[in-house]
Amino acid sequence: MDGLVFRYKETCAVDDAAIEKLGAKLQPEIKRVAAAWANGYDSEYASLGLPHDHAMISRVEEAVAQKLALKPVALVVVGIGGSNLGARAVYEALNEVGDTSDMPVYWADTVDSDYIARIYAHVETELKAGHSIILAIISKSGTTTESVANAELFLSLLATYKKNDVHRFVVVISDEGSALWKLAQSKEFTCLAIPQLVGGRYSVFSAAGLFPLAMLGVDIKALSQGANKARELCTSSDISINMAAIRASILCDQYRQGIRVHDLFVFGIELRATGNWYRQLMGESIGKVYDRTGKKVSVGFVPTVSVGSIDLHSVGQLYLSGPRITSTRFIAAKKCHKKVVVPAMVEFDSLVPHLQGKSFAAIMNAIIEGTQRAYKKDGRPFVTLEVPELSAYYCGQMMQVAMVEMMYLGFLFNINPFDQPQVELYKKETREILANE
Ligand code: PA5
Repeated sequence: MDGLVFRYKETCAVDDAAIEKLGAKLQPEIKRVAAAWANGYDSEYASLGLPHDHAMISRVEEAVAQKLALKPVALVVVGIGGSNLGARAVYEALNEVGDTSDMPVYWADTVDSDYIARIYAHVETELKAGHSIILAIISKSGTTTESVANAELFLSLLATYKKNDVHRFVVVISDEGSALWKLAQSKEFTCLAIPQLVGGRYSVFSAAGLFPLAMLGVDIKALSQGANKARELCTSSDISINMAAIRASILCDQYRQGIRVHDLFVFGIELRATGNWYRQLMGESIGKVYDRTGKKVSVGFVPTVSVGSIDLHSVGQLYLSGPRITSTRFIAAKKCHKKVVVPAMVEFDSLVPHLQGKSFAAIMNAIIEGTQRAYKKDGRPFVTLEVPELSAYYCGQMMQVAMVEMMYLGFLFNINPFDQPQVELYKKETREILANE
């Protein structure tokens, strides 16, 4: 698929006939998804239209130009879950390969006091020195406890140093109908909208992802182009070239076989955040109590993230010997930007043979291949996604394929992949506890 290579034959424990059968079942949904993106933001599939929305992308670029003109020395992103994981995934993938600006970013995505206090101290030092920071408050609902607490905290800090000028340094990204949006407008903060039917975990190509990413120097047009290309290919009725449909069919059949854990085994620390984003996407989209007819089904995979080669030394033993309930997706980016080579070995020559003169990339490739051979020998199901390079374009492709994959998997399970009723439960309970304290 336009650069992304997906390998699954003979390793995924699902035969071609099963994939074809599920692919045939998917056809009406593929048609719906294929038609939906062009119809604006009026359906559950609204997120697919985002990378085509040039007016929205321009509004984000204008806001970014306006804020960069204030010469900020750092960006604080307040947001949690779908309101920060997407931007963080792209940023961390590209930052490692030097495809972002040097501006420090602080992710205020928790109410962990010590972590937030550290961010606060950094920001206060900059403000004290007379520098500027930009505060991006991202919350679709505008009522998430952690985000409201952090928004208040950093707004009051800004107010101490910027006095009547605070509004110039703040961007609020939310649903136009939220109370947060209305408050932000009344305070003349810059406001960017997340369309009403775009859920948090599907919002990376909205202002929620694009604003922080563009602030941090990511090419958001290339990101959107990658997403569009993936949407085009993943709405093909020809299953053999439709990666999202193949992946959903494989997962559906694996579930039928008793697989309950899906491990995203990323080779490259820079892809850890992509793994975390996918974990939320799969966890919230597919983990459901009821199906679309209201019948109790309790479906879902437990999505896990492993980072190679580090985690071969933590969970490798388990994955190659424990219960056969896990399927694995290996992800590796082929091209690395910096070459590191094992020098002529003087000190440790006798410890591991054949290392001398080898590049670290070659050693990593040997480890990936070795791991896959071991999985194969033990009949542990896996698939492999090869990314030609870490770039905004391929991040866009990877993420869009994954989002369409969840739509198809939701259809095959007959569940709603767009809601998250149980997350709302915890939010409600927390608000009640805080109210009674
Ligand atoms: O995917 C989702 O919808 C959730 O994970 C939300 O993104 C998360 O709960 C944060 O919500 P909000 O953006 O409303 O603050």
